[in-house]
Amino acid sequence: MPRLLVVHHTPSPAMQAVLEAVKEGAAMVEEVELTVRPALSAGPADLLACDGVLLGTPANIGYMSGALKHFFDTVYYPCLDATVGLPHGVYVHGNDDTAGALAAIDRITGALRWKRVAAPLSLTGAPGKDDLEAVRELAATVAVGL
Ligand SMILES: Cc1cc2nc3c(=O)[nH]c(=O)nc-3n(C[C@H](O)[C@H](O)[C@H](O)COP(=O)(O)O)c2cc1C
Repeated sequence: MPRLLVVHHTPSPAMQAVLEAVKEGAAMVEEVELTVRPALSAGPADLLACDGVLLGTPANIGYMSGALKHFFDTVYYPCLDATVGLPHGVYVHGNDDTAGALAAIDRITGALRWKRVAAPLSLTGAPGKDDLEAVRELAATVAVGL
């Protein structure tokens, strides 16, 4: 069965609501095994064991969270050759501006030569019904493509 890995940094109730929507979206797709790992605890073994990854982070000072950056720093060289073409998606939550975080993630996933299989999702403010539905859709889209 294809395996979807979610690597996330979830430091607040708003982002926990987003993470729950990720799980719901992935659960809508049959025949996908879901693994959810906080970014500070995920490593090369998690990445090498998956068929696709969904990355989630808050925007922090115009960049991705230090937690997600730590994940990338941890996996970059160990996984550089083995994960070329890895299907992935991304969501970023911020107060008002997620552009810097999304650009930084684009840069790193581009250097890793991962394949973006869904449009990046930018969420600002308290996640509403439509936001959470977009999150479910994102997770389902990434899961379906595995
Ligand atoms: C140190 C720090 C830096 C932040 N920088 C940004 C930022 O550059 N852009 C932005 O939109 N939000 C920024 N935020 C807000 C967080 O993205 C937000 O707190 C997080 O997504 C969780 O959402 P919540 O606070 O609504 O629960 C920052 C928050 C902190 C604590």
